[in-house]
Amino acid sequence: MDRRQTESAIAGIVRLLGTSLKNRGLYPASHPLVRTPIEKCRAEIEPLFADRPELALTVTDGTLVLEGVPIFHLTSSLELFLTRLGSIGVPAVIFERGLTTEDIERFVLFLHETKESGLNVRAVKDRLCQAGVRHIRVTSTEEGKDFSIAREIYGNAINVVVQALKDVRGGRIPDGASCDHTVREMNGMISRNRDAMLALTLIKNFDEYTYTHSVNVSILSLAVGDSLGISEQHRVNVGVAGLLHDVGKTQLALDLIRKPGNLSVAEYEEIKKHPEEGYAILGKMTNIQDETRRMVREHHMRFDRAGYPRPEPDMKLNPHSQVIAVADCYDALTSMRTYQKARTPQDAIEIMRKLAGKSIDPDLVLLLERSLGAYPIGTMLRLSTMEVGIVTSVSGEGKGQPGMAILYDRAGNPLTAPETVNLAEADPATGKPRRVVLGTVNPLLLPPISLETVLGHAPA
Ligand SMILES: [Fe+2]
Ligand SMILES: [Fe+2]
Repeated sequence: MDRRQTESAIAGIVRLLGTSLKNRGLYPASHPLVRTPIEKCRAEIEPLFADRPELALTVTDGTLVLEGVPIFHLTSSLELFLTRLGSIGVPAVIFERGLTTEDIERFVLFLHETKESGLNVRAVKDRLCQAGVRHIRVTSTEEGKDFSIAREIYGNAINVVVQALKDVRGGRIPDGASCDHTVREMNGMISRNRDAMLALTLIKNFDEYTYTHSVNVSILSLAVGDSLGISEQHRVNVGVAGLLHDVGKTQLALDLIRKPGNLSVAEYEEIKKHPEEGYAILGKMTNIQDETRRMVREHHMRFDRAGYPRPEPDMKLNPHSQVIAVADCYDALTSMRTYQKARTPQDAIEIMRKLAGKSIDPDLVLLLERSLGAYPIGTMLRLSTMEVGIVTSVSGEGKGQPGMAILYDRAGNPLTAPETVNLAEADPATGKPRRVVLGTVNPLLLPPISLETVLGHAPA
């Protein structure tokens, strides 16, 4: 589907929603004039989910915008739809993959029946939940926007790394300007919405490890740099170093990088050359700061200076090289490789606590731990409802309640699509929290589910 076809499909879908809503005011729910547009809407929306997990419909400056496509030609039914969203107080609606005709039907009924105006997002969420709407959620415009912007920024960063490594492998020297630009974008997003950016580091694409690992280390380094309170220029330097920390591996044979199991002494000696190789490559690139180069060279020197290349006794290590080392360690531990299963975020932190003071800086481990929260993004939790979900956001630097996506129902069956919940949400009947955390769950004990389904995104 090209852009034009997508635009007209999207406009058609919203018109169908409007038509159904308009007719709902005149006919009963079962009437074909109400029912048919809903069925058509579902059939037409389905192909759009082929390459995206959700569709965001927002009202911006009085204009309906679906997936960034403004719908300008308002029919009377569209206008009614827009007016209802606006008067109830719905800033953004997200249609999720797995959407059913019942979801749309219940949502249209909600728009039709709700007489109050100016409801807050939480109240709308509760109503939709009570009405049994499963795959349509409302969100504040900012929240919805941030996640889609973060996904776009992540995708751009992957493309930058792919291009840079391709250049180096092809004997060309990449320009550091695109790395600098993409890191500044990630840095800006982290200052605005750290959770949105951190959640993406969980997408561990096994085949694309080299690229996702580079971007993830950059994001995690930026987050730690942010917590350290270092200046923006230093943060960018750290972020670029994170992005390019393993660029020297392009000089190694591919089967050596991917080799499962133990390496021979000679093979390990080869691997140990990558920080120096990276330092040399960065030295030829334009728009690369000296500090960045040094961090790439020093990322395996270890906190106790017992790593490689072995630092001279009087050599002063860059204070931020350990930021890269800590981010590198966390991302490697939580990733699945040919030779290891992915650790849970909590297990990874546990292992890192043991390495603190030896290979990595204890203060930075503590800082990372704090910035990931009590339940780091990616932790599987069992709730008082016996549902199992994954943490997708950490509010307020680890304080407050995490945002979660429920993946398994109370019987342990995987849901067809994750259900986003907020643990701060209260049960309107009792006023008490609807869900309480019982404890963490080992994801290996659950039926398999892909993380891409969870976060609804596969990096480009
Ligand atoms: Fe490395
Ligand atoms: Fe690495």
